[in-house]
Amino acid sequence: MKKKIALITGINGQDGSYLSELLIKKGYSVHGIVRRHSLAENQDIRINNLNVKTHYGDLLDEVSLMKIIRKVKPDEIYNLAAMSHVRISTEMPSFTIKVNSLALLNLMEIIRNYNDKIKLYQASSSEMFGNSIDKDGYQRLTTPMNPVSPYGCSKLLGYNLINHYRNAYDNFFCTGILFNHESPRRGINFVTNKVVRTAVEIKKGLKKKLILGNIDSYRDWGHSKDYVEAIYKIMQFKKAENWIVSTGNTYSVRDLCKITFKLLNMNYKDYIKQDKRYFRPQELKYLKGDSSRTRRVLKWQPKYTFETMIEEMVNYWSNKL
Ligand code: GDD
Repeated sequence: MKKKIALITGINGQDGSYLSELLIKKGYSVHGIVRRHSLAENQDIRINNLNVKTHYGDLLDEVSLMKIIRKVKPDEIYNLAAMSHVRISTEMPSFTIKVNSLALLNLMEIIRNYNDKIKLYQASSSEMFGNSIDKDGYQRLTTPMNPVSPYGCSKLLGYNLINHYRNAYDNFFCTGILFNHESPRRGINFVTNKVVRTAVEIKKGLKKKLILGNIDSYRDWGHSKDYVEAIYKIMQFKKAENWIVSTGNTYSVRDLCKITFKLLNMNYKDYIKQDKRYFRPQELKYLKGDSSRTRRVLKWQPKYTFETMIEEMVNYWSNKL
């Protein structure tokens, strides 16, 4: 039987690398788009041991997208590439909208004009909800979406475009609204890996302080490895839909610090300083996702807990540093 072909944008990211591993296990031929990087070793740092084929391109360069899609002839495209840092999106709002929304629009148009049988997964985000919370304390598909960052706005535009194209033209365009998801492969300027790595550095005498922004916001944090399983199931479902992917538990950044430092036999209060440079113009205060339908219909279940995920990250940095 012919191998299925997947094309992943953002293949070198945290989710791209875990998804590649999963698709290879499932027997796919996996292709990915990488951007030219001035430090060539950073281009494929998370995937250089994997049997994937990479192609130079850029979401902002439709010509490169068109050429890659013609060459690879994918059955499925996973659009994971994005300007994904919320605070940085406030410094580069225009770039964020171009990469996260306009490029998606171009990708959908290329699919429709080249081969409208190609399935597309779009990485949507819980940041789209902003500070809307249902009365029972959860966010779900019906919760109003009122984003509080250029990043959130860009993802909401992408989400609306996906829904519009699916309804208007009947393409298989699906999305997962993923709540925060982490791992040792997380970029170190996201709060989980920043906290864990710095705590290990403090433990080893390499640093003295951990400097953070707002530590009283709450997030629903899962593990990227669990979440790419959900992405795969979303893509294989008989119908293209929107899905919530979350743990249903919420912790504050303060809880994250408490647990991490405790694992290293330290008290977080002795090491944390706050600096306004890490605060956001408008903060998203509280996330907790209701993924009950995803669990029931797709038979998806996360394996990691918040604690086992932090433990894995602490072990990773303890061995690495
Ligand atoms: N990054 C960062 N750095 N965040 C900090 C810091 C700091 O020094 N100090 C406090 N925080 C707080 C942020 O204000 C936010 O409330 C929380 O930690 C989480 O920040 P991030 O880890 O940067 O993640 P995020 O919630 O803004 O965005 C992530 O999750 C979204 C899903 O809701 C990203 O992965 C997005 O791409 C994703 O869509």
